[in-house]
Amino acid sequence: MVMRRILLALAVGCAAAEDGLNAWLRYAPLPCSLSRHHSLPESIIALNSTTTSPVYSAGQELHKGLLGIFGKNLTVSTSLPSGKPPSKAVVVGTVAAFGKSSGVGHDVASALEPDGFWLEVKGSMVTIVGQNERGALYGAFQYLSLLARADFSDVAFVSNPAAPVRWTNEWDNLDGSIEHQYGGPGIWFQGGHVVDDLTRAGQYARLLSSVGINAVIVNNVNADANILTDANMQGLGRLADAFRPYGVQLGIALNFASPQSIGGLSTFDPLDPGVIQFWTDITDKLYQHVPDLAGYLVKANSEGQPGPLTYNRTLADGANLFARPLQAHGGVLMFRAFVYNNNLNESDWKADRANAAVQFFDGLDGKFEENVVVQVKYGPIDFQVREPTSPLFAHLSRTNAAIELEVAQEYLGQQCHLVYLAPLWKTVLDFDLRVDGRPSLVRDIVTGRRFKRPLGGFAGVANVGTHPTWLGSHLATANLYAFGRLAWDPSQTAEGLLDEWVVLTFGHDRHLRSTLSQMALESWPMYENYTGNLGIQTLTDILYTHYGPNPASMDNNGWGQWTRADAHGIGMDRTVSNGTGFAGQYPPEVAAMYESLHTVPDELLLWFHHVPYTQRLRTTGETVIQHFYNAHYAGAETAATFPARWASLRGKVDSDRYDAVLRRLIYQAGHAIVWRDAINEFYRNKSSIEDERGRVGHHPWRVEAEDMTLAGGYSVVDVTPFETASGFRAVVATKNGSAATATTTLRFPDGTYDLVVGYFDQANGRSRWAAYLNDKLVGSWVGDGEDWLSHEHSTHLDGHSATRVRFPGVKVRKGDVLRVEGTPDGGEMAPLDYVALLPDGVID
Ligand SMILES: *[C@@H]1O[C@H](CO)[C@@H](O)[C@H](O)[C@H]1NC(C)=O
Ligand SMILES: *[C@@H]1O[C@H](CO)[C@@H](O)[C@H](O)[C@H]1NC(C)=O
Ligand SMILES: *[C@@H]1O[C@H](CO)[C@@H](O)[C@H](O)[C@H]1NC(C)=O
Ligand SMILES: *[C@@H]1O[C@H](CO)[C@@H](O)[C@H](O)[C@H]1NC(C)=O
Ligand SMILES: *[C@@H]1O[C@H](CO)[C@@H](O)[C@H](O)[C@H]1NC(C)=O
Ligand SMILES: *[C@@H]1O[C@H](CO)[C@@H](O)[C@H](O)[C@H]1NC(C)=O
Ligand SMILES: *[C@@H]1O[C@H](CO)[C@@H](O)[C@H](O)[C@H]1NC(C)=O
Ligand SMILES: *[C@@H]1O[C@H](CO)[C@@H](O)[C@H](O)[C@H]1NC(C)=O
Repeated sequence: MVMRRILLALAVGCAAAEDGLNAWLRYAPLPCSLSRHHSLPESIIALNSTTTSPVYSAGQELHKGLLGIFGKNLTVSTSLPSGKPPSKAVVVGTVAAFGKSSGVGHDVASALEPDGFWLEVKGSMVTIVGQNERGALYGAFQYLSLLARADFSDVAFVSNPAAPVRWTNEWDNLDGSIEHQYGGPGIWFQGGHVVDDLTRAGQYARLLSSVGINAVIVNNVNADANILTDANMQGLGRLADAFRPYGVQLGIALNFASPQSIGGLSTFDPLDPGVIQFWTDITDKLYQHVPDLAGYLVKANSEGQPGPLTYNRTLADGANLFARPLQAHGGVLMFRAFVYNNNLNESDWKADRANAAVQFFDGLDGKFEENVVVQVKYGPIDFQVREPTSPLFAHLSRTNAAIELEVAQEYLGQQCHLVYLAPLWKTVLDFDLRVDGRPSLVRDIVTGRRFKRPLGGFAGVANVGTHPTWLGSHLATANLYAFGRLAWDPSQTAEGLLDEWVVLTFGHDRHLRSTLSQMALESWPMYENYTGNLGIQTLTDILYTHYGPNPASMDNNGWGQWTRADAHGIGMDRTVSNGTGFAGQYPPEVAAMYESLHTVPDELLLWFHHVPYTQRLRTTGETVIQHFYNAHYAGAETAATFPARWASLRGKVDSDRYDAVLRRLIYQAGHAIVWRDAINEFYRNKSSIEDERGRVGHHPWRVEAEDMTLAGGYSVVDVTPFETASGFRAVVATKNGSAATATTTLRFPDGTYDLVVGYFDQANGRSRWAAYLNDKLVGSWVGDGEDWLSHEHSTHLDGHSATRVRFPGVKVRKGDVLRVEGTPDGGEMAPLDYVALLPDGVID
């Protein structure tokens, strides 16, 4: 038995390299201890012989799964044998197909909603009945998930999706780039067209289907009108063909001005008969290429995009323009609520971007066609590390609504930081808006339950790319998994979904399960700790890459992501009594909670109130500024534990994934310190209030590069923003083609230290550095993050490029000479910030 399993593992499990392509659909062989004592089906019957049918795919998938997990190579047939029904088979099909050929009862049929399924496991007899074809496939994936998690219980249950709209949005441009691209270029567009080889598109549809996603908007919401050319319509037809076997429908984002930009009309006024005709013709034509087109997504009058307001028409006029021609074909129009003016004036105390959505949609509830769904970001600003729930959800009782979540970690570490997002999403989904004084959970609003709406659901911005891990990092796929599973059933817990994902993606080992789950569950609170606290938002660079720290970028511009930090205080006064009035957009009970300093939760204090830095928190009694300091130190300390915790899994994870994850966690621990120091220094500078624990600005184990003896062309520069360099300055080489050096005589007591070097890794070069102790090489490294880190890279010395390298266990004696040599490359002039010799346990 053991031998057979090992051979199988060699044949099946290890044949596929663990490059991440199969994500949670690995069907890895079960460990022996888990795979004994159960009965399995002896054959597979999938009741549809058309190869493009999701039911046919279900048969193939069951075959693949049972082969991978158990080494059972079962035959797949597409009809029930005549006479006696088989007793040891897994049979999958639609209600209709079962109705014809067997006795699956009326009870099951009537309990199923569209896309829902019935799964019955009775020993080796398994019955999977879909309300429709993709429901049958979902049931097969569910059965395989149970098996892969070694759950062999007899079960019999109906599973229906919480909402009909369970879509991803992919911000792919036609040239192959992606807006907020962290997993490589897109998998379906290149050079203005749909690519020929759509293998990855099909594989992606498989992943999505396994978690219940039923449609993909394939192009950027900042849409290019050229998506509508004849060639592209044909390409979209091929793309939809690649998705269809997995029950995934295709949708596209439209550019509102297309009638003018490509249609030859002089206007794109939504009430103009020519414009209406244009969209009707386009829609009819698209449905010839993609007969099951899911619908459209429209971003209008936002961040410079054209829209109905250009013609003094309402947003409802704009949405209905597309919704009407879609009705004839059963399509859905997703209309983004992300409408705001990006030229606000901060000197107006009452100006507030957060107010925009409710204001723009004021008076429009009930004015949208029945196939319109208003797609609302979870918070009123833009995917920040913490935001209150968008109040717009409380204002759409006669309009369909969907929640927009961002799987791509745009403001949340861009897949270079482990941040498991389901706990963040749950704070919004489980939030009770108390509309009309009654329970009104956001999840019940978007699923249509609370207001009895026919449509609604979930949109997740995924932005997958050609990287084998889809998102650019193995651990980030937890977010895609959780998004799909929450869209199916938003009452599930972040913890439960995570455990499923860990087992499916990495295996059953108990230590592995608890270690990785624990890290992932700490990751969002940790990230909030070392970025922006108390509802002040992420504090990243909103004008450039949205990645590293740059708190100053939030203010003094028209974008309205303001903090209003000055020498005395910080926070947006969003009260009704004295501020922007935003708190008053919530139903009365919620509004009252946020309005008062006595009841606002600490975690949103600075979102709703402008307070002095010395304001005390209700829960801990810390001042705001001391909380910033404490939280930043605590967050960076947590990040510092991640590499060792992951390293304890060595041997329990294949070496490819082990190494790739470890490298990123080490990077993250270093960048967490960049964040910690930048934010702390920035607010210490603003407030002139010292850290009462004396940490901020005091780094006894560091030697600043600017204080070292410089030769070979290193010269001192001021870094902007100042807080992103230790001591606010760094050194850069001034001569191409030769190494510059920075040398110091160490004055630390004799001992064993970790040598850390703070430096900058820009996108425009791959400098090399080497560190020598008394002329003996300690270590060398290359500034090549642009080749392996997924974040948007900077060409400057700043909080995006600031990073660290660490060499553990270096024996140092007082008086030893440490020299760092930097060799510039391209425009990257081997920038160096500091060296540190850290005794055991010091995180700095
Ligand atoms: C089989 O699948 C095809 C393609 O999806 C579909 O058109 C047909 O209705 C299905 N047949 C049955 C019996 O479900
Ligand atoms: C499974 O069985 C089929 C038919 O007998 C055979 O062609 C195929 O090679 C087998 N696959 C494996 C992995 O054993
Ligand atoms: C829209 O209305 C404003 C004032 O209400 C007016 O100044 C403007 O000319 C109008 N624009 C169009 C395109 O009708
Ligand atoms: C913002 O408003 C202030 C005061 O009304 C004014 O002085 C300033 O010019 C305005 N700034 C911009 C960019 O419009
Ligand atoms: C009220 O608003 C003004 C700005 O208009 C601000 O300066 C002041 O601090 C606020 N007062 C309180 C009590 O928040
Ligand atoms: C976040 O910071 C607080 C201190 O402000 C600390 O109690 C908590 O443990 C930290 N959490 C993580 C995960 O870093
Ligand atoms: C804050 O930074 C500015 C500019 O670098 C500097 O002039 C000022 O002295 C600093 N203030 C404090 C309190 O550190
Ligand atoms: C070094 O070369 C790069 C281009 O490779 C150039 O951008 C940079 O200005 C040069 N620096 C110096 C100091 O000559």
